[in-house]
Amino acid sequence: MNLPNSKDARLRTKNEVEYIYDNPVSSNKFLNKKYYLRTYGCQMNEHDSEQIEGILSSFGMQSTEVMEEADVIILNTCAIRENAHEKVFGYLGRIKHLKKDRPEVIVCLGGCMSQEVGVVEEVLKRHSYINIVFGTHNINELGSMLIEASKGKQDIEVYSKEGDVIENVNFKRASKISAWVNIIFGCDKFCTYCIVPYTRGKERSRKMDEILSECKKLKEEGYQEITLLGQNVNAYGHDFEDGTEFSTLLEEVAKIGIPRIRFVTSHPWNFTDKMIDVIAKYPNIMPYVHLPLQSGSNNILKLMGRKYTKEEYLELYNKMKERIPNVAITTDIIVGFPNETEEDFENTLDVVRKCEFDGGFTFIYSPREGTPAAKMKDSVTLKEKEERLKRLNTLMNEYSLKHNKEYINKTVKVLISGVNEKDDTKTMGYTETMKLVNVKGSKSSIGKIVDVKITDAKSFSLDGEEI
Ligand code: 5AD
Ligand code: SF4
Repeated sequence: MNLPNSKDARLRTKNEVEYIYDNPVSSNKFLNKKYYLRTYGCQMNEHDSEQIEGILSSFGMQSTEVMEEADVIILNTCAIRENAHEKVFGYLGRIKHLKKDRPEVIVCLGGCMSQEVGVVEEVLKRHSYINIVFGTHNINELGSMLIEASKGKQDIEVYSKEGDVIENVNFKRASKISAWVNIIFGCDKFCTYCIVPYTRGKERSRKMDEILSECKKLKEEGYQEITLLGQNVNAYGHDFEDGTEFSTLLEEVAKIGIPRIRFVTSHPWNFTDKMIDVIAKYPNIMPYVHLPLQSGSNNILKLMGRKYTKEEYLELYNKMKERIPNVAITTDIIVGFPNETEEDFENTLDVVRKCEFDGGFTFIYSPREGTPAAKMKDSVTLKEKEERLKRLNTLMNEYSLKHNKEYINKTVKVLISGVNEKDDTKTMGYTETMKLVNVKGSKSSIGKIVDVKITDAKSFSLDGEEI
């Protein structure tokens, strides 16, 4: 057993990244058995779940939506905030109950939470019915761990190492229309509030050839949209030291000719002019950037270790708006970082007023064990934090509604992704600028990019008719 610790996880040595070509194991022990997979957290986790499903499908297993009928239960967890944690431990209560009636069920805990200090110990102490714990660095070993677990062994393997790059992964993709493609793993930014550099390890880029051949294959399979994934996509290539940067890759991916290319998440630090130029140049690179602000106060940005000031953020934001036609920009903001003053918070509101973001995710700061910010004394009460979040959300929603209203009576391109989740007589899809549209239109348009006339706008979605 190998337990994570934050000291090891904080190390960033110059060790070469190992590029490992996965050699999947096979087994017929699980043929026609059912698995239940529950995914928490970000797109990276959603995509990791596609890797998990690839492994389970290769064993001849089928997925089920009903946990009670599953032979294997897997929780792919998130650690970004405390409430993500609580949700998982809450769900484990249900599983514990089920294990009493059906002890043969194999329960697996994976994802970011497994990489956190103390979680494995807690599993051993209070949730010893869990059969497998795997981390974010060794998803590819899940197959062999399942084989071991079927022999009755408890298998706990979570590496506290900086991370390799695993190639030759067989994903079972959730969509036939839009696909995720990893370009860079891990994070070396170490923002002081964030657990990701510990749970996801060192920043390491996939080789460009591997990424391009994956994208070409997806194009041949008829995918309409590719989203390039990384904790910091614009850090891509910095570990190669040959001048390759995100713009180099983005341009090559654009040339493949996939109708829509997106990327997430960008860090405002080191977002070069060349990157902006490439986004502006290629019509198949979508005019949409998610650009986390986190705070508008220079004091707080410094304490957060964000490597930019309010003024630098605004400069980059304005440059993007000027140079990328019709670009939509969304953001992430944390309120209530330790000792955030009313003046600090006013600075955040000021940036929101200046930027008029298209949308964003807002959070109350949540201390994560092992991070520097978790050790800071905090004078702000939860009530104040909640009140700031409310004020921030009111302002953010005002601007998203304002932008959405600008679409009324306009005709825009929408990639129809499926039947509408709320009204099955309609379809749904996204504009180039990543606005969700509820569409009155034909189901035969699913998977196609169609013209849609926008008829109404709300804060978080548009209504429209296919024309
Ligand atoms: N508390 C609150 N929000 C956080 N985020 C990351 N860490 C924390 C934390 N400890 C937010 C950031 C990030 C998004 C994915 O989650 O805004 O951009
Ligand atoms: Fe976390 Fe900062 Fe890395 Fe984003 S850039 S994953 S917020 S440490």
